Amino acid sequence: MSEIAVIGAGYVGLTTAACMSHLGHEVACVDVVPEKIERLRRGDVPILEAGLDELVQEGLRSALLHFSLDAAGAVAQAEFVYLCVPTPQGLDGSADLSYIEDAAREIGPFLQPEAIVINKSTVPVGSTRVVEQALGRGDVPVVSNPEFLREGSAVHDFMHPDRVVIGADDQGAAIRVAGLYLGMAAPLQVTDPASAETIKYASNAFLATKISFVNAIAAVCEAVGADVNDVVLGMGYDKRIGNAFLRPGPGWGGSCFPKDSRALVRIAEDAGYDFDLLKGVITVNDEQFERVTDKIVTRAGGSVEGRRVAAWGLTFKARTDDTRDSPSIEILRRLRARGALIRAYDPAVPRSTEDDRLADIEVVDDPYAACADAEVLAVLTEWDELKWLDFDKVAETMAAPRVVDARNLLDRNTLVRRGFEYEGIGRT
Ligand code: UDX
Repeated sequence: MSEIAVIGAGYVGLTTAACMSHLGHEVACVDVVPEKIERLRRGDVPILEAGLDELVQEGLRSALLHFSLDAAGAVAQAEFVYLCVPTPQGLDGSADLSYIEDAAREIGPFLQPEAIVINKSTVPVGSTRVVEQALGRGDVPVVSNPEFLREGSAVHDFMHPDRVVIGADDQGAAIRVAGLYLGMAAPLQVTDPASAETIKYASNAFLATKISFVNAIAAVCEAVGADVNDVVLGMGYDKRIGNAFLRPGPGWGGSCFPKDSRALVRIAEDAGYDFDLLKGVITVNDEQFERVTDKIVTRAGGSVEGRRVAAWGLTFKARTDDTRDSPSIEILRRLRARGALIRAYDPAVPRSTEDDRLADIEVVDDPYAACADAEVLAVLTEWDELKWLDFDKVAETMAAPRVVDARNLLDRNTLVRRGFEYEGIGRT
């Protein structure tokens, strides 16, 4: 068992702290927001992550997991200090490292001599050096240990990683950090910090590339009269392609892909390489928002000026409550700009939600209420429960039974039999 401090209690930090305490380590999880720490001390988890509540309760019961506002006090006892603070996108597209530098400067003087700082935040290549300088210590190694957690399955992904990547110049530090993951049946890769940081960006950028590729293929399918679902199925049998992350949709979003793809373009440019391919991936994604918006307007009869549009889905994907960089909201914003009146339902976004991203979108707590008098229904996230709703009832409440299924979630034949006009993505 080791003493661990985790700086930052967001999606990554809270998941890391709860999972590490579940593995038997003594963990102090630190944040700067008093209300968040008070809620966590009561076992009230502020984010929707399957299994996280249980692990936080377990850690509090076993007294292996503590929440604190005192970073200095937490790191003074710690052998390992995880940095899990945000690295938001700066105005110029590069990653903003101010949070991680501030955290490093704050804890530097209080670290034990044999401590190791583990950087889990997604940071540009070379940032390990930046953290080392901000720590102001020559005796504390900094190790890169990027996270590969998907929101909505963060606990599962932490406990069952496809791989653990450790980037360190100090082999002794790499071995000690590797010891934290010995309980996990996953390949362990030890490399240098720059390679570890690049693995993270390259992995996210490649996943975004797969999605933009399938969204572009969906447009081709519409043009040539093919069905993208069959095309993806046929592609996926090829083990070199696989069928994961080849689901067409409204475009990719969330707190990672948009930020990381732009940051990687910038990192490459700063290093002298013009990453045209990745710029194309980003362009295709921006175009997808407009394509789906156009589909909805066309399906509503060519204009949504002063007319109602129903939306199912506000978050950036199903099984999360996160609306950051949500394609759903981007599309609804574009519809608002064309004069639409929006009423939206999302299983993870209650009407009472205080979220300025939802300005001038009427949020309701019932999927049928969202459809009242709507000219068209836009399905924007792939919540499974939406498939099993009563579509006769949906048709009755709408001004006209028309649906744009931006996730190819619903069964087209069922809807057509019920008198709906149905339009998906990549399906003629
Ligand atoms: C991603 C990476 O998957 C994860 O490894 C990394 O650590 C953080 O970023 P996340 O952003 O939580 O995780 O969500 P993810 O499931 O990757 O989805 C990202 C976006 O792609 C969502 O908007 C999702 O709807 C979209 N997507 C995903 C598709 O449109 N089609 C797909 O087939 C898969």
